[in-house]
Amino acid sequence: MANDAANRAPYLLVLHGPNLNLLGTREPAIYGRTTLAEIDAALVRLAAQIAPRVEVRALQSNYEGALIDRIQQDGPAALGIVINPAAFTHYSIALRDALAAVGVPVVEVHLSNIHTREEFRHHSVIAPIAVGQIAGFGPSGYEFAVRYLLEQVQERTSTAV
Ligand code: DQA
Repeated sequence: MANDAANRAPYLLVLHGPNLNLLGTREPAIYGRTTLAEIDAALVRLAAQIAPRVEVRALQSNYEGALIDRIQQDGPAALGIVINPAAFTHYSIALRDALAAVGVPVVEVHLSNIHTREEFRHHSVIAPIAVGQIAGFGPSGYEFAVRYLLEQVQERTSTAV
């Protein structure tokens, strides 16, 4: 039906890369004790407060191709993409190309401050195609990213979404 697309709820895509399913137990001194489910639930609550019509569609995958498939499928119609590419940050040109191809704002998030860690973590192949990178603020970084993207949408449309 012609109106189906127009009636569908607007959404943000939130993507988590490899090993982030282990949050809560994975190197807690670096990544903290908050689980991925808790992070996603907080983002759903935050979006509901700021923009009640906006859904949060979250996916974690350990597979580059699964993330790319989801970016191709849900990226173009998303209001924006929040992504913690995890280790893919440092070398996945395929992920970068997929994000660049969709043409919606991308915010890169890292729980830890990658710039104070091992040298191989300092470089991000994603950062040049992102609006910005947030690193070192733990789970709050995802919240900053969601807040930023929703505020941008509200400014662009001058209406509440
Ligand atoms: C990370 C940092 C990456 O270097 C690492 O490979 C991760 C998590 C972060 O959130 O701090 O898996 O993206």
